[in-house]
Amino acid sequence: MVHLKTPEEIEAMRPACRHAADTLVFIEPHIRPGITTDEINELVHEFTVAAGAIPAPLNYHGFPKSVCTSVNHVVCHGIPGKKKLKDGDIVNVDVTSIINGWHGDTSKTFFVGKPGVKARKVVEVARRALEIGIEAARPGATLGDIGHAIQSYVESERCSVVREYCGHGIGRAFHEDPQVLHYGRPGEGLELKPGMVFTIEPMVNLGKPGVKLLKDGWTVVTRDKSLSAQFEHTIAITEDGCETLTLPSPAG
Ligand code: MF3
Ligand code: CO
Ligand code: CO
Repeated sequence: MVHLKTPEEIEAMRPACRHAADTLVFIEPHIRPGITTDEINELVHEFTVAAGAIPAPLNYHGFPKSVCTSVNHVVCHGIPGKKKLKDGDIVNVDVTSIINGWHGDTSKTFFVGKPGVKARKVVEVARRALEIGIEAARPGATLGDIGHAIQSYVESERCSVVREYCGHGIGRAFHEDPQVLHYGRPGEGLELKPGMVFTIEPMVNLGKPGVKLLKDGWTVVTRDKSLSAQFEHTIAITEDGCETLTLPSPAG
């Protein structure tokens, strides 16, 4: 069941959404060759608690850290650890903050040092896939329209869309209905209505779409070891389109 949020509820989500976005701005200059994903986790954790926010991933269904860090062929839900990032890596940092009981969820894939041709390609296609998904999100359109827009773009770029993980409604809970698939057919699925709040977070593989789950129970990798990139925003459907809630505070 999809609960439509009132304008007051959407207002109440803004601080968490803004904080999650500000965390990505904060972390960006730290993403350099030599940093470990544990150090990224520490920095995100401290930045979050210093703002009086809660890092939603920590202990979520047993997840052991405060942020997900997914490197190279890791698709999503990478667990921060001791491995140092090296020049040419890509790393997705997926931040979810809770403020006043409300969640905001956003992620971005960063280049570590100087990217190669493949890294540039997959990151650019993932970035644009999210934009195209957001452009398709408006009242009267369906979830299938969003999925179709993303899938047809990604496949036209000779990349592939991961099927096993999707976007999601978000609010007082981290993951709510509906499921937001990043593939689909025009006109199918739930019709979008003002007050729906959900994430769009396409995972784009440079190779085949298949994934597997590692034995740690969290880390998802591409089966063919190809690079994978992801971007995520939390959006609200408005009367005439949608609004991206996970935008950072104005600079200054
Ligand atoms: N932030 C992820 C998402 O976009 C979910 C991470 S769940 C965790 O939905 F437990 F791995 F943190
Ligand atoms: Co999400
Ligand atoms: Co996320």
